Amino acid sequence: MSTGVDTETFVVRGSGPIKGTVHVPGAKNSVLKLMATTLLTDGTFELTNVPDIVDVTIMGELLAALGVNMQRPAPGQLLLTNTGQITPVAPYELVEKIRASINVLGPLLTRCGEVRLSMPGGDDFGARPIDMHISGLKAMGAEFRFTDEYLEARCERLHGADITFDFPSVGATENLLTAAVFAEGRTTIDNCAREPEITDLCNFLVAMGADVSGIGTSRLTIEGVERDALRPVSYYTVPDRIQAATYLAATAVSNGELNVLGIRPDDMTMLLDRFGDMGLQMSPVEIDGASGLHVAAPERMRSIDVATLPYPGIATDYKPLIITMLSVADGVGIVTENLYPGRFRYVEELQRLGADIGTTGHHAVIRGVPRLCGAEVQAHDIRAGAAMVVAGLAAEGETIISGVHHIDRGYDDLVGRLSAVGADIRRVG
Ligand code: UD1
Repeated sequence: MSTGVDTETFVVRGSGPIKGTVHVPGAKNSVLKLMATTLLTDGTFELTNVPDIVDVTIMGELLAALGVNMQRPAPGQLLLTNTGQITPVAPYELVEKIRASINVLGPLLTRCGEVRLSMPGGDDFGARPIDMHISGLKAMGAEFRFTDEYLEARCERLHGADITFDFPSVGATENLLTAAVFAEGRTTIDNCAREPEITDLCNFLVAMGADVSGIGTSRLTIEGVERDALRPVSYYTVPDRIQAATYLAATAVSNGELNVLGIRPDDMTMLLDRFGDMGLQMSPVEIDGASGLHVAAPERMRSIDVATLPYPGIATDYKPLIITMLSVADGVGIVTENLYPGRFRYVEELQRLGADIGTTGHHAVIRGVPRLCGAEVQAHDIRAGAAMVVAGLAAEGETIISGVHHIDRGYDDLVGRLSAVGADIRRVG
């Protein structure tokens, strides 16, 4: 794994169909939350199917500052030892680097009765408030105080509460879920998020000894347990559906044929349906005990209209990939963003490559062109960066992508995995 130095670039050349087999690792958006949850109880946890990405390193550093030590004995494996000496103060310089740092709030508060946290960072695609995290925790008995840089929270033992979200926020669901584990009595979270990564967190908590029901639905019920009811466990991280979609998109734009293994197609049904509508051929495959999808794109994709929605809808994180696919598809497609209105920054990078895209408000209209043209582009965030790589595969000539430290935050050896299936891509610098 690279340390993601700013001067590095990826150089990609559209070089025809990719072909072969790719293994997809575990999900960033799950493993970071599982890691934060180890704050709840003492002892050594083992996480497997862990992606080798920079955000895992940063979360490991944050946890070390709080009292949980991380080791990586083997690729894909983490050992996290909660020393029992937990300091509920999260240093600014680590919190500001990743959005998932907000996930230490629930575990620290419920375990320690106090927490001091700077406001979380992460990808820059518009305002990302945490009002739902705060109002939910307040309903459970926490008190908050805000300074210019810090949020401070305190409580005696939290108590159960009936919480209904206006919107199914992923992060707020996770923080309330982990906080409710030690709360006195029953907590219900209505209209909660139900992404596969939330289900993964619920299953992890249940394996630890928590009492969570309604898993996978939009109403979670958590019966609080005593502190000594939890134990450390060994746990396999859910596969990364966004990385999986990236390899599907790369296959689509290069007219390739790929076995994408280690994935759970059931976690991405709606996306796969839409990819099918575009003309991507998919069938289940199993190779040496690993299952996944065989995908093939014998012809140019057809344009479709897509709107992002909370799960089970099409995830906002897929959107840069979809817009890239539509940039070279046959026809006109409209993409509507319903989660992060400002999340269209990468469109101007695609335009540099010759894509014909117009945006108004939270809509993008994409008129497919037969081929893009290589140019210098920026990766503005993790998913936009991956989309630049896919665009480079669809472009004539050389595409030079800077800002690759963003891609390293969430992608485990994207360059190595794509080169292994015949893509002309290298890391430079
Ligand atoms: C997570 C993912 C991110 C993904 C997003 C939506 C991680 C580390 N990140 O982010 O990749 O794009 O889910 O699938 O897992 N909101 C509020 N108030 C709140 C909380 C959220 O207004 O208290 C708004 C946000 O500003 C945003 C929307 O709700 O517009 C979605 O946010 P949320 O579901 O919480 O996403 P994250 O957990 O931040």
